[in-house]
Amino acid sequence: MTEFEPRTMGQQFGRRSWAEPWKIKMVEPLRMISREERERALKEAGYNTFLLASEDVYIDLLTDSGTNAMSDRQWSGMMLGDEAYAGSRNFYHLEEAVQTYFGYRYLVPTHQGRGAENLLSKACIKPGQIVPGNMYFTTTRLHQELAGGVFEDVIIEEAHDPASLHPFKGDVDLEKLESLIRRVGAEQIAYISLAGTVNMAGGQPVSMANVRALRELCDRYGIRIYLDATRMMENSFFIQEREPGYSEKSIAEILREFCSYTHGAWMSAKKDGLVNIGGWLAVNDYALFEELRNMVVIYEGLHTYGGLAGRDMEAIAIGIAESVQDEHVRARVGQVRYLGELLTDWHIPIVQPVGGHAVFLDARAFYPHIPQSQFPAQTLAAELYLDSGIRSMERGVVSAGRDPKTGDHYYPKLELTRLTIPRRVYTQAHMDVVAESVKAIYDAREETRGLTMVYEPKYLRFFQARFERAE
Ligand code: F0G
Repeated sequence: MTEFEPRTMGQQFGRRSWAEPWKIKMVEPLRMISREERERALKEAGYNTFLLASEDVYIDLLTDSGTNAMSDRQWSGMMLGDEAYAGSRNFYHLEEAVQTYFGYRYLVPTHQGRGAENLLSKACIKPGQIVPGNMYFTTTRLHQELAGGVFEDVIIEEAHDPASLHPFKGDVDLEKLESLIRRVGAEQIAYISLAGTVNMAGGQPVSMANVRALRELCDRYGIRIYLDATRMMENSFFIQEREPGYSEKSIAEILREFCSYTHGAWMSAKKDGLVNIGGWLAVNDYALFEELRNMVVIYEGLHTYGGLAGRDMEAIAIGIAESVQDEHVRARVGQVRYLGELLTDWHIPIVQPVGGHAVFLDARAFYPHIPQSQFPAQTLAAELYLDSGIRSMERGVVSAGRDPKTGDHYYPKLELTRLTIPRRVYTQAHMDVVAESVKAIYDAREETRGLTMVYEPKYLRFFQARFERAE
């Protein structure tokens, strides 16, 4: 694949600027506390941005998960919630939306993405089996491991290089995968865990050519592909933008085609689904569906609500229809890219090309004097909060956790701090403020010291770990 040349949205769509296809109807005041108060709040939070009170945060770029602004149509849908225990009308609307836009036959709602991951992992992994995937995601891999599976990374090598301009850094390395299948035997592979807009790689997409070839390979060995469709609308945008033959296709058409190469999918609707809570799992195989539909009543709730209120399911059904609109996705990715371009112009090291949901700062390059054992990305997130009250998230050695076999830290090649942009929430002026704050801590980088971990929970430690400044 030839290198992708990043272009501004203006160059790309032949206009001077892009703008959001909506206007603001309701606002929520923001407040910035003083530097002293931020120092106190950060210390109390053990230098972990997950432990800060949201009231102490100015611009919240912790995550794009559940932080979306819903539309007036979604809010009116909330009023049409059918809160029956069984057979809520809103369930049927959600089922129809998933069938229409993703093309899968059978739907199981869940309270959020990890609820679906739990069900799928329990139903489809036999202890000792391998689950190859295009880079791990924290909750996904943990559920696979808890079900007895062993995650194996089969993403292309370029994904681990923040500077590589490969247009589809989320692609599966098909040779690596095939040699793995040959080595362990097809029956030892539970399924392929494929994710669109690969989160831990910096929001990098998978190409249509790759998923098509993956399906051919898997058909030869009788292996199924399950898709993490959490950010598949953004992934579809990148295919439209970069892949030959897709520039005239709509996001909705691209999404349907992509999903057609997979056997089922799950989604944290809290991201591209444009809601604050919810998720689902959908498959084409009726026998598997029966099993999932039975399991969901144990862990989530009856199979027609899966831990969600009727109104939540309605908001997701409407959100899915809004999220595949070309104008929406273009403005969404455009805002992320705008921030990335500012930082690039100022020579601040970030993952290139800028991905779908976030700008990822390359903490290794930012703080070359801080060893990975002193958590450069966690340090960067702490410094950014101190400077301006902006909250970001560590995606490096803390997030990677420990190898369950050896107990050692996983040391990922990517040591990143994520500036995650909620959908339809902040303006371009907020992005300017964020870029200026990153520049300020970059200019002061040489005086910055790392952190030591003083408390470590057993599972998904990044959420609750505590740190102190290193000596
Ligand atoms: N898959 C991906 C790719 C995700 O990014 C997430 C959540 C999940 C699954 C799990 O979904 O949160 O609804 O249970 N990512 C959030 C984030 C937490 O900040 O990236 P969930």
